[in-house]
Amino acid sequence: MTPKDEIHVPINSDSDIVTARQQGRTMALEAGFGDTDLTVISTAISEVARNIVEHALSGEIILRIEHNGSKAGLVITARDDGPGIPDIALAMQDGYSTGKGLGLGLPGTKRLMDEFDIVSDPEIGTTVIMKKWRN
Ligand SMILES: Nc1ncnc2c1ncn2[C@@H]1O[C@H](COP(=O)(O)OP(=O)(O)OP(=O)(O)O)[C@@H](O)[C@H]1O
Ligand SMILES: [Mg+2]
Repeated sequence: MTPKDEIHVPINSDSDIVTARQQGRTMALEAGFGDTDLTVISTAISEVARNIVEHALSGEIILRIEHNGSKAGLVITARDDGPGIPDIALAMQDGYSTGKGLGLGLPGTKRLMDEFDIVSDPEIGTTVIMKKWRN
């Protein structure tokens, strides 16, 4: 793995969300993802980065290309040290929001990606790990 295969984007503000989305799109383009996947990847990064800004204030997005045999995938990790999600099953339901959102960010993002996991703890914060495999 070359160093360029992994990028860390600090997330503190709305402009960082744009940066993370652009970096993810560039990385996915270089890895050969098609137009539909590029849009999906941009949307997914936006949602988890926006959740960091809105619900945890600050954190980071880590972007990495993973190879599994001839298969290439983009791994997106969103990590923060915010208040955590007390009930992940509830947070994953369509329409559940503790803020002013529609409560569609997490469940919608899960539907877009091939793999999706959340680990959260009030002492540690929240980590969302998701993958998109290239067709
Ligand atoms: N990183 C996070 N840290 C703490 N709580 C979070 C985090 N991400 C999501 N949550 C919690 O999970 C809920 C659901 O998240 P989701 O993204 O689905 O909806 P939302 O952000 O409220 O609205 P939107 O539809 O605009 O995304 C949030 O309202 C919040 O309570
Ligand atoms: Mg959200």
